[in-house]
Amino acid sequence: MRKKIVVGNWKMNKTVEEAVELSTAVAEHLGDGLVNCEVGIAPAFPALEAVGKVVEWSDIRLVAQNCHYEDDGAYTGEVSARMLESIGCTYVILGHSERRQLFGETSATVNLKVKKALGEGLRVIMCVGETLDEREKGITTEVVTGQVRSGLDGVSDLVSVVIAYEPVWAIGTGKTATPEQAEEMHATIRDTIREMYGDLPAEHLRIQYGGSVKPSNVAELFAKPNIDGGLIGGASLKADDFVAIVRAACC
Ligand code: 13P
Repeated sequence: MRKKIVVGNWKMNKTVEEAVELSTAVAEHLGDGLVNCEVGIAPAFPALEAVGKVVEWSDIRLVAQNCHYEDDGAYTGEVSARMLESIGCTYVILGHSERRQLFGETSATVNLKVKKALGEGLRVIMCVGETLDEREKGITTEVVTGQVRSGLDGVSDLVSVVIAYEPVWAIGTGKTATPEQAEEMHATIRDTIREMYGDLPAEHLRIQYGGSVKPSNVAELFAKPNIDGGLIGGASLKADDFVAIVRAACC
């Protein structure tokens, strides 16, 4: 049985002070009793260290939202995997659709980042998902499986990898994929992993769903056999909502 994983992606929200306040509230509610599921929070870079200090006594993982694929050098504005590892990050989110759409990230750069992050000992949450236009054209499967295959090209071991399926049209729009739509794509992703890596890695790989997950829709999503948790945006900015979502995963 796969342990569910719920991560709050705070995106470009919260000052350091606000991030400490929110992470403290989450940690107080969830404490160190997370036996049935794994939980992480992903603040923006400036708040990572301070939030890391808040959650270090708990079972909550510190997660970064991005990293570069080089170790160091003249890359103004970028942060390396090694830097993230050195301040206690366990996971890094890579290939989020906002990075792909707004910052020109491609499956090729995502792949470089995935390999670098794994090489530095970080675990990776690799995001994939189709746009509305791609869904309407009927090429969802092709797009998503293509992102999976190229993002993982040359990655031999999936033990430290989680995939997040986030249909772009469901992110921040209030439009959630139906549990059936999400389950269909999760099963397709797992089949692709089975073709690439074999049965055992496919059965162990956790696939999170992301896109307008909230306390009111989480139970039916998490009840699906191939949905192994969530990557939560807007609802993770409110401690009560995030805790309710985590509780739905832990039960
Ligand atoms: P929302 O939950 O705000 O739709 O965001 C989802 C997401 O992009 C998480 O990475």
